[in-house]
Amino acid sequence: MTSKTPDLETAYALRTPEESRRLYAEWAGNYDSSFAAREDYQLHIHTARAFVAAGGQGPVLDVGAGTGLCGAVLSDLGVGPIDATDISAEMLDQAMRKDIYRDAIAADLTVGVPAPAGSYSGIVSSGTFTTGHVGPDALDELLRLARHGAQFALSINAQHFQAAGFADKFDSLRARNIQSFTLKETRIYGDLAAGPHKDDIALIALFEKT
Ligand SMILES: C[S@@+](CC[C@H](N)C(=O)[O-])C[C@H]1O[C@@H](n2cnc3c(N)ncnc32)[C@H](O)[C@@H]1O
Repeated sequence: MTSKTPDLETAYALRTPEESRRLYAEWAGNYDSSFAAREDYQLHIHTARAFVAAGGQGPVLDVGAGTGLCGAVLSDLGVGPIDATDISAEMLDQAMRKDIYRDAIAADLTVGVPAPAGSYSGIVSSGTFTTGHVGPDALDELLRLARHGAQFALSINAQHFQAAGFADKFDSLRARNIQSFTLKETRIYGDLAAGPHKDDIALIALFEKT
């Protein structure tokens, strides 16, 4: 187990999937109350709404679903069925308690998700493409899991977008694999947030698999 208290700083300082697995195992029990509520976390709401506004429909895969915050908003908006995938079995346990998801798939996205190609009409992700977490190479696996015409809504931390080379990855995908690509800038936290990350920005990448 990690000796550090789970919080935003330790999350941004993660270096490997194994470190993620350990941190989120510790964080799962109080992620919603200690992080999401205290930091006025809003990104899951923006991501789910953007997906629905773009015409997204189920079946949906919520990638790095965590405790199920994005899935809960999608479900409230009438989207389903929704599956959850995450590297952390403990986070998925919390998600499944919310009675939103059809299935939970424990998997390291950087290795692969054990589901057949073309399983999903929609792919959403909030808070997983961020510093210390998952980079642009994982987009290939998400495209494999998606049907032709599937709608994507992926939030990507704006600093991570720059540092990890998402622009180049999307440029190459736009040439062959995706269409109707837009980037929507949004705040990650709400007006009640305090601390050094309160004004952090994410880009919500909206696109369709061709
Ligand atoms: C900041 S949380 C976001 C959770 C949720 N989507 C939300 O918006 O609250 C990031 C999630 O990404 C997951 N994660 C990190 N690295 C991963 C990987 N390599 N494969 C799959 N999930 C990963 C973590 O376990 C964690 O649940």
